[in-house]
Amino acid sequence: MIKIKVKNSGIIKLQTIRDKDGDGDMFIAEATKNIPFKIKRVFFINNPKRRKSVRGSHAHKKFNQVIVCVNGSFVLNLDDGYTKQHILMNDPSVGIMLGPKLWHTMTDLTKNCNILVLADDFYYEDDYIRDYDEFLEHINKGQ
Ligand code: TYD
Repeated sequence: MIKIKVKNSGIIKLQTIRDKDGDGDMFIAEATKNIPFKIKRVFFINNPKRRKSVRGSHAHKKFNQVIVCVNGSFVLNLDDGYTKQHILMNDPSVGIMLGPKLWHTMTDLTKNCNILVLADDFYYEDDYIRDYDEFLEHINKGQ
């Protein structure tokens, strides 16, 4: 059982319907029900070529997102500027909330890893903080 220690995060349980005949399981995310925002954007990452691939390495100013490992596994590294946490993502029924001001990287991606992200807004680069020192400055200013 994962326990979230960092700020601006949380565990999201996806509704799970297991097929008793083994014809595939189903995982359901519903905006404003188990996902605590209206979903405006969905993207996924697949087909990493290297185990040492690193994704993320940024924080957001305002975006809220939920990240799910649909297949395979990866390690989600969270850092709120004070506390760090590493979560092994290998269960498609578990989403992790990535709120604003949370530095995150995804590492140790298996080759069959599929990462799904649900976001509460359209993509705009202005919401990204891609420099770690800038991130620390941002949270210290309490912006
Ligand atoms: P990036 O956010 O750096 O990926 P990750 O955090 O997974 O490592 O995005 C990679 C590139 O894709 C970057 O140039 C921005 C672009 N991008 C979009 O155009 N739209 C999107 O919705 C996202 C998530 C990224």
